[in-house]
Amino acid sequence: MVERETWTTRIGFILAAVGSAVGLGNIWRFPFSVAESGGGAFLVVYLIAILIVGIPALLAEFVIGRRANVDAVGAFRAIGRGNWRFIGAIGVLASFWTLSYYSVIGGWVLRYIFGSATGSALAGPEAYFGAASAGSSSVLTHVLFMAITIGIVAFGIERGIELATKFMVPSIVVLLLGLAVYAFMLPDAAPGYEFLFDPNVTAITSNLTQIIPAATGQALFSLSVGFSVMITYASYLGKDDSLGADGLSIAVTNTFVGILAGTVVLPLLFAGGLSVGAAEGGGIGAVFVAIPIALGNFPPLIGKILGIVFFFVVLIAALSSAISLLEAPVAYVVDEFGVPRMQATLGIGGGAFVLGVPSAWDIAWLSWFDGIGVALLLPTTVLFVVIFVGWIMGDDAVDEIKKGMAGDSFGTVWLWSLRTFVLVVVVVVFLLNIHDLFF
Ligand code: PHE
Ligand code: NA
Repeated sequence: MVERETWTTRIGFILAAVGSAVGLGNIWRFPFSVAESGGGAFLVVYLIAILIVGIPALLAEFVIGRRANVDAVGAFRAIGRGNWRFIGAIGVLASFWTLSYYSVIGGWVLRYIFGSATGSALAGPEAYFGAASAGSSSVLTHVLFMAITIGIVAFGIERGIELATKFMVPSIVVLLLGLAVYAFMLPDAAPGYEFLFDPNVTAITSNLTQIIPAATGQALFSLSVGFSVMITYASYLGKDDSLGADGLSIAVTNTFVGILAGTVVLPLLFAGGLSVGAAEGGGIGAVFVAIPIALGNFPPLIGKILGIVFFFVVLIAALSSAISLLEAPVAYVVDEFGVPRMQATLGIGGGAFVLGVPSAWDIAWLSWFDGIGVALLLPTTVLFVVIFVGWIMGDDAVDEIKKGMAGDSFGTVWLWSLRTFVLVVVVVVFLLNIHDLFF
């Protein structure tokens, strides 16, 4: 038996987890969720959801993983509660499921780097997106993206994921900052900020049953909670540093990058002569159509450079998330069945590729996969994780989280938050989603 790997450094773990959290959700989904749901109103609810549900639930996954030091399914057995293994299994299924279409979108991003360089993506954005997002060309870029993901995960934790994210995450932040500064200096960018930051209170109150589940789902997806991913990443922790501090810095960085992406995307749209209306209702395609239209209104060379840099950032953000989505099922197969990592990575990556072919072929399938993943699999896993850590692990969970921390008041407050209001919010979101999906 080969010894199980661990992260070499604490910052290595944090960067890998940030790499997982910061992804398409921040750049592709977040600015447009804000756009669709009444601007700053959505942002406020989202921030509250991160704080009162996202962070406690993230810490719950960390506690399970570090306590068990094994894959997300076996974790429940290792904790002595094998009957609850199904929670880890739904999470592993959710990451496999999500990887299948995440890679399709990642493939489009890959194509857009070249489409920006040649200018063809900016010349006729709608037609370009139509061609890139359907049929065999979309399947081809899906293969490429998945192959890169497999290539990284095959190298394992230290020499694969930790090494890759050590370069990827700082690059994302630096390049996005550069883009944000550039966007700030553009004339006509101001309405973008106003739109992002100006909370429209009536938009919140008149639409609570829609905004609360949307913002909570977005917050959890954004933190990679509900996919067994954070359980798996925490299972590679060797030392007992403060999970609370790590979780907080991960959540803060993720939120910061989301807002930063908003200050790139929305001002670019306005400066490029588009109103947010162009982004609304664009759904999945919004970033791929609205941004290129806006960039097409810049002087050609500037438009191309902005396009290359923007889509490059999106690409590494997507990749550093995709590797975590692959790692969760890979760890399961490696730890539970003793399959060598190389085979496991190829088999599961290949399987997720096949599952993603319908999404690549036709965007309607992608939208369906995304809907099931975010509205059904994610809330189901989170609901049971919260019940499990709050009510089943109980004091054991407090015992785990207080390691590396001074005093136990944090752990106790956290446990009771899980037991009470986190649980209530998660149940409500779960029920609203079920209602939306099936009734
Ligand atoms: N957090 C990622 C994002 O915002 C998506 C993701 C979900 C990645 C779950 C891994 C696991 O894009
Ligand atoms: Na995110």
